[in-house]
Amino acid sequence: MSGPAPGKASLPASLVLVGAGKMGGALLEGWLADGLPGARVAVIDPSPAPAMAELCAAHGVALNPASPAEPEALVLAIKPQGLEAAAAALAPLVGPETLVVSVLAGKTIADLKTRLPRARAVVRAMPNLPASIRRGATGAAASPETREEQRRTAHALLAGVGLVEWLEGEELIDAVTAVSGSGPAYVFLLAEALAAAGVAAGLPAEVAGRLARQTVAGAGELLGQSPEEAATLRRNVTSPGGTTAAALGVLMAADGLEPLMRDAVAAAKRRAEELAG
Ligand SMILES: NC(=O)c1ccc[n+]([C@@H]2O[C@H](COP(=O)([O-])OP(=O)(O)OC[C@H]3O[C@@H](n4cnc5c(N)ncnc54)[C@H](OP(=O)(O)O)[C@@H]3O)[C@@H](O)[C@H]2O)c1
Repeated sequence: MSGPAPGKASLPASLVLVGAGKMGGALLEGWLADGLPGARVAVIDPSPAPAMAELCAAHGVALNPASPAEPEALVLAIKPQGLEAAAAALAPLVGPETLVVSVLAGKTIADLKTRLPRARAVVRAMPNLPASIRRGATGAAASPETREEQRRTAHALLAGVGLVEWLEGEELIDAVTAVSGSGPAYVFLLAEALAAAGVAAGLPAEVAGRLARQTVAGAGELLGQSPEEAATLRRNVTSPGGTTAAALGVLMAADGLEPLMRDAVAAAKRRAEELAG
């Protein structure tokens, strides 16, 4: 289920970001680029990177304020293993009206409510690495108490780093983790495997590496920009009896890429379930 349209109007009037590392920093950059005034944001991070401290200073974002007020929304972007230690300081910031948005891998809505006892509206989200260039893919699930306008706010916040897909149930987050969360690594492996195959076909390693990298990046860009489905784009470049068809005969065989990918995603999903306990 795709969610409501995001919009500047849905960004919260007051926001606390906890953890301004890779993901938190990308989110903050996205919000500021979307027009969220820095004065509406407070960042809590005991040792922010210099670039993050500069970004906060440049936009008037309060960095580690002495006593931040209870915000309309609080975004949690610390490492999952840091939640327990951080919770005591955060719990007073989260009231029954505060929307909590967490990107913590493996931390369930129930875990978050246990640590932040007054929280009611909790959105658990799983973004992915291309969030760092605002081309991320995020799956999100909301606690039943989350009101429609809070869901819109969560959507606007997560859309700061790319696509947002709302899930019917939180249990689907493990499948999202296995598809889009871990997915960028599968695509990087495709570039590696294509380069290695190029070397086996006789190309110098550096040439094969550059060609494979640009092929994956260029095809990804084309897919991102095109209104067509991936299968249509594939068919469009496959002449019957041609070279691409010969390769796809191998990749699309009964023991080809599709069953391999199904097994890989199933393994990642099982692991996500184990890690979430
Ligand atoms: N990176 C991704 O692609 C990705 C994708 C999906 C989900 N996530 C989720 O995003 C979360 C953050 O990951 P990340 O890669 O951004 O990690 P990260 O770069 O290590 O960022 C975490 C930040 O939180 C800070 N921090 C630690 N304890 C804190 C506390 N008590 N209060 C406030 N800030 C605190 C850390 O400071 P120190 O460095 O000083 O400890 C660091 O700056 C994780 O839960 C992860 O599961 C990340």
